[in-house]
Amino acid sequence: SEVENQGMWIIGYGSLIFKPPQHSFRVNGYLKGFIRRFWQSSSDHRGTPEAPGRVVTLVSLDDLKTNVKFHNDLHLYELRSTHQETEIKEGKESTPVEPIDSISHRVSTLEVDDLKVWGVAYYIEPKDVAEVKAYLDVREQDGYTTHKVPFHIINVENKNDVSEKVLADLPKDSLTGDFLIDSMIYIGTVDSESFIGPESVHETAKKIKSSQGPSGLNSEYLFELTKAVRHLDKENRSRDYYLEDLVKLVNDESL
Ligand code: BEZ
Repeated sequence: SEVENQGMWIIGYGSLIFKPPQHSFRVNGYLKGFIRRFWQSSSDHRGTPEAPGRVVTLVSLDDLKTNVKFHNDLHLYELRSTHQETEIKEGKESTPVEPIDSISHRVSTLEVDDLKVWGVAYYIEPKDVAEVKAYLDVREQDGYTTHKVPFHIINVENKNDVSEKVLADLPKDSLTGDFLIDSMIYIGTVDSESFIGPESVHETAKKIKSSQGPSGLNSEYLFELTKAVRHLDKENRSRDYYLEDLVKLVNDESL
């Protein structure tokens, strides 16, 4: 449990990126060993019980290795040798030319360092920790559980007195020299009822295009998230080709 008078870090990789909680300052960067997918069904925020929408969750490298059903999807994105946004444009279906055994072999050699998810981390001051936790814990009802994961800081978004103090005490990654924090994160487990992966980008795009809920249009969630992720890194390393493909598909008139 958290020490009473300590601040808290919370990672945002989904709606938290564009809908910040009460916080002191924000940093941008990435975590390792997960992929981000729209594989969490949403019947209370971006959909309804009759027509659930889609929101993002993370799938761990362990879960990816253990379940062959995820391997084709990894092949389409994280295992691509060059990141190009051509597959969707050319209207190709997502059937890989590479045999599944060969893909699975490559998945088995993946290491934590090979998978990066760009996002944000908010520093919550001690006085706000209880309130923010209460706000976030509502989401646990939807099959999300809390974890602690390392987050690599690439830049500090809004420096202030607190950030100067907090950052001064942080350890640095021995290889890259980046500041490294241990942060709280909410992840939807693959065995929860709301987890619907794997789902093809085409299917997911259809769902996103047709869904809305109390928090608004499902497509707005996708557009806001994708735009925010693009801007996390000045050198464009944060661009997420899975999200970019979904945006293209949702904007495609023929879908
Ligand atoms: C987020 O990063 O936006 C988030 C995802 C799931 C639960 C809570 C927050």
